Amino acid sequence: MNILIIGSGGREHTLAWKINQSSKLEKLFVAPGNAGTADIAQNIAIDVNDFEAIKQIVIAEGIEMVVVGPEDPLVNGIHDFFLQDSDLKYVSVIGPAKMAATLEGSKEFAKQFMIRHNIPTASYKSFTSDEIEEGLQFLDTIKPPYVLKADGLAAGKGVLILESLDKAKKELRDMLVNAKFGDASSVVVIEEFLSGIELSCFVLTDGEDYKVLPMAKDYKRIGEGDTGLNTGGMGAISPVPFANDEFVDKVHERIIKPTIEGLRKDQLPYKGFIFIGLIKVGDDPFVIEYNVRLGDPETEVVLPRIKNDLVELFDAVAKGKLNSVELEIDERTATTVMLVSGGYPQAYKKGIEINGIHDVESSIVFHAGTQLKEGKILTNGGRVMAITSFGRDFREGLNKSYQNIKNINFDKMYYRKDLGFDL
Ligand code: AMP
Ligand code: GLY
Repeated sequence: MNILIIGSGGREHTLAWKINQSSKLEKLFVAPGNAGTADIAQNIAIDVNDFEAIKQIVIAEGIEMVVVGPEDPLVNGIHDFFLQDSDLKYVSVIGPAKMAATLEGSKEFAKQFMIRHNIPTASYKSFTSDEIEEGLQFLDTIKPPYVLKADGLAAGKGVLILESLDKAKKELRDMLVNAKFGDASSVVVIEEFLSGIELSCFVLTDGEDYKVLPMAKDYKRIGEGDTGLNTGGMGAISPVPFANDEFVDKVHERIIKPTIEGLRKDQLPYKGFIFIGLIKVGDDPFVIEYNVRLGDPETEVVLPRIKNDLVELFDAVAKGKLNSVELEIDERTATTVMLVSGGYPQAYKKGIEINGIHDVESSIVFHAGTQLKEGKILTNGGRVMAITSFGRDFREGLNKSYQNIKNINFDKMYYRKDLGFDL
């Protein structure tokens, strides 16, 4: 089978690495890809939201399966585009239809879904710009910290957590009246602050049945000790030591089952990954958010632990036969450490040469923001590459990643050296 992966990050290189091991694969394409995917697949320089260009490639290359990495094309309706086109409707698309992708595309929609299906989440109220006065009054009635969320996609920046009431009121005004996040903040969700430890849960569904993938924990802050600005993710581990059987059972019963049933009841067509951002409050799980894709860098530790042929799994998803497949998981711990450009998540330089990748021996190098130019591998983003290792526990895995990172260098390379400090 010829397969196309859409996207260009560490998640997509990991998908490519795993799909490349499949006996069902004939030829693999990645659009637009990075220097890592160029090594194992054919990169195609098209934008992830250019559906017409994607269509041309799918037809020209006889592609039978499209795996969508990032949320943007899903929220923009790439799956529906395929279903509605007579030339494309038989192509398998891994990723939900537009209506279902609204679970990530609109926080308000996701909140209503959770309330309707009795799924534990923070209590909330939402406000439009016409309701700014009500919103400001509502802030007077609740306790800090104040959690303000832009309803729409804001490239991971749309959530503000504020200690002072004045600041919260100012930010609410900025979001609703001054369009701080553009259209994304034309509606703002204000929600109860939940205090606990976060983890990421991934489910693969064909819309009827589902498989629960290994859980993971990512490290979001740039600085050691979980300080400083939020990033896309500085590293991850799987499994999550504090998610014991009892807790995982609660996640299944209270969150995963009602989510899948809710999708069915609400007729939200879903063939793909659901990423449930969880927070453990005391011993109980609550949903922080839904994403309609795999997480990054969580993918770099979740997929390596799946022993199945990934294309067989995806084929079962496409055909609605996921119940016929048994998921096989590697019991070992996987860890990943993200190497980032100096300055990230603020301003940073691109185009810096990366050396030493080929000296890495007992870890897997997943490229994120890299590009191939005249035979050299250059940085091309804030998050540059993820170094994944296996170990008996997270300490052994992380040690291996840290040892191997010593081989790699580029000017102003930075990474967190304290991952796992909180476990
Ligand atoms: P999100 O963009 O929805 O992932 O939110 C970004 C981050 O904000 C989450 O990873 C949490 O750390 C934090 N967050 C979101 N909602 C809440 C909440 N209700 N209580 C506490 N922290 C939250
Ligand atoms: N690591 C969090 C995300 O992918 O959104």
